[in-house]
Amino acid sequence: MDTTIAQAELSSPSKTNQFFDDVINGLNATPKYLNSKYFYDANGDKLFQDLMNCEEYYPTNCELEIFSEKTADICKAIIGNGDAFELIELGAGDATKSSYLLKYLLDNEASFTYLPIDISSNVISYLNITLPVTLPGIQIKGLNGEYFDMLTRAASASNKRKVVMFLGSNIGNMPVHEAEQFCAEVRNHLSAGDMLLIGIDLKKNPKTVLAAYNDKEGITKRFNLNLLERINRELGGNFDASQFEHYPTYDPETGACKSYLVSLADQDVKVGGETISFKKDEYIFMEISQKFTIAQTEQMAKKAKFKPLNQFYDSKKWFVDAIWLAE
Ligand code: AVI
Repeated sequence: MDTTIAQAELSSPSKTNQFFDDVINGLNATPKYLNSKYFYDANGDKLFQDLMNCEEYYPTNCELEIFSEKTADICKAIIGNGDAFELIELGAGDATKSSYLLKYLLDNEASFTYLPIDISSNVISYLNITLPVTLPGIQIKGLNGEYFDMLTRAASASNKRKVVMFLGSNIGNMPVHEAEQFCAEVRNHLSAGDMLLIGIDLKKNPKTVLAAYNDKEGITKRFNLNLLERINRELGGNFDASQFEHYPTYDPETGACKSYLVSLADQDVKVGGETISFKKDEYIFMEISQKFTIAQTEQMAKKAKFKPLNQFYDSKKWFVDAIWLAE
């Protein structure tokens, strides 16, 4: 989700209804929750951009270091014996990290087509227009839609080898069992010999992790509160964001970094026609950003019927980009 471009487009009524249903279901549940995929409206994208530039939020810089310093090694692993392939990126955003690979692959005359997949049509038009200018000679076919629908389309359009990229530790925003199912579903869309290049944030000093989700400037706090404001803007809500406190936690044992918004008072909030009641100190679970050990990443690969092939680390070994081979 590294992007300067608005990711979530709720222009169609069905998407707005889905947003409404998800919000109402989550706020009527016990305990209350909201889905972090809704963080990314235009304001959320801007806040995430600010977060990626803030001192404490390390994952983006770690992965950028890997892509900029280990470009040749990653590309060699992807190129393999040199047969033509399709490089498919799930949630391409502005393709900053993948551009390092794309440039190297072009400079080395690798035979490939780049297929960025994104739910945002803005992202796809942006990439279709800008990449052929910044990377002359690139073959690009942007696919606008849901990941698995577009993977199915990519798989039926050609029988070339596939290399799927899923970067930024977006896998960490799913609870572990969902992350495992997600990897298995990616595998189901691939054939033996295809690859998954996946970026995963690793367990490290708990203070370092917690600080990344509790930055001094309060950007993460605004990033979370923006979802309440988005509900006000798009679903006719009347949340008073000043009546909620951001509460991030990290459990070094499980690797689960979780964010909550805690109600500072007994209060009623209206969303559309519905009234949601909060007790003082009641929380909304907002997001999980799961951290893994290398052993856990390998287990996840194997459960999904991939064989872990290569691991590329940043200099601090805080983040890994792993290549898994579909067996
Ligand atoms: C997009 N995702 C991997 C980020 C993360 O680290 O979980 C989103 C984020 N949430 C708070 N800070 C960043």
